[in-house]
Amino acid sequence: RTRGSPAERRRDMDAFAPGFLAVYESLKPSGEQRSKQEQLVDSLARSVRKECPHAQMHLYGSCANSFGTSHSDVDVCLEMETGAESAVEVLVRLADVLRADGFENVEAITGARVPIVRMSDPGSGFSCDICINNLLAVANTRLLKDYARIDERLLQLAFLVKHWAKQRGVNEAYRGTLSSYAYVLMCINFLQLREPRILPCLQAMEPTYTLTVDGTECAYFDRVDQLQGFGAGNKASIGELLWGFFHYWASQHRYKRDVISVRLGKTIRKQEKGWTTRVGGDRHLMCIEDPFETGHDLGRVVDRQTIWIIREEMERAATVLQNDDDPCATLFEPY
Ligand code: GTP
Ligand code: MG
Repeated sequence: RTRGSPAERRRDMDAFAPGFLAVYESLKPSGEQRSKQEQLVDSLARSVRKECPHAQMHLYGSCANSFGTSHSDVDVCLEMETGAESAVEVLVRLADVLRADGFENVEAITGARVPIVRMSDPGSGFSCDICINNLLAVANTRLLKDYARIDERLLQLAFLVKHWAKQRGVNEAYRGTLSSYAYVLMCINFLQLREPRILPCLQAMEPTYTLTVDGTECAYFDRVDQLQGFGAGNKASIGELLWGFFHYWASQHRYKRDVISVRLGKTIRKQEKGWTTRVGGDRHLMCIEDPFETGHDLGRVVDRQTIWIIREEMERAATVLQNDDDPCATLFEPY
């Protein structure tokens, strides 16, 4: 136990696994919350039909990818022909209908990369984002859900990491830290990199599912029922994995050189992607490749200041897990 540098020195994290599993269980949405979500989706569908009768409604994000906690919002994508109108015009009209139907805080956010209508449901208290024809998000939702079915340790790790990130204030992409989606990709990649591997790389296998969205091909092996027990050769407990995750991002990841890639199940060089930092160019300080939109860096929101906030939080987390008397509580203390 005394080998290696202090950062490498490890206590037995297995002892904390039951505590972390209890936190994980408490974060999972209850049956009641799920049925409230379904009711919200039903009443939303009624309103949408008035304005856009031919639209097909898809759920995406954490209400559909199985990484949703009891605090998660509901993300909805409408698949429809917009004709001569722009998606923004449709959303603005939809916002009026939703207001008239009693939804609260209805707001069309049209300046974002993906324009949305945001609102809340007074009955359930849930908030909800609606976008149009963002089918890549529907495809990556499906990919994440399939990864989650292979090994339960992914769900456990990602729930705990998302909860940590929310509590510590590093889950706000609009303020320069990372989105929940980015954290889940980091967890998947981390489990792909374990030895023996806990997760496979579904996009490197013979595709059994293919969807082409605006010329971008989304293809991967989706018969994950055939992959049950894939990670069984690796016995690491959630305690050990959680520590390993923070240790990786605090001390092992090579920020200046590498990009993490769920698509390839490994890390690749920034140089290979042309994501080297240039003055005036896009910032690529912490690089997380989107599995389908490979030109899209989920870390592009991170700047010179927020990268240190994130890295210091990663270091704090690793230290708490190593030294604190009650890591299952201290890890999630609000900042
Ligand atoms: P919570 O709502 O925090 O539980 O997580 P979430 O999984 O719903 O994640 P988030 O709200 O960050 O993103 C919703 C979905 O948008 C993701 O699951 C992706 O499918 C999709 N998405 C695609 N590109 C991006 C991106 O650049 N940023 C974010 N935030 N989401 C993206
Ligand atoms: Mg969401």
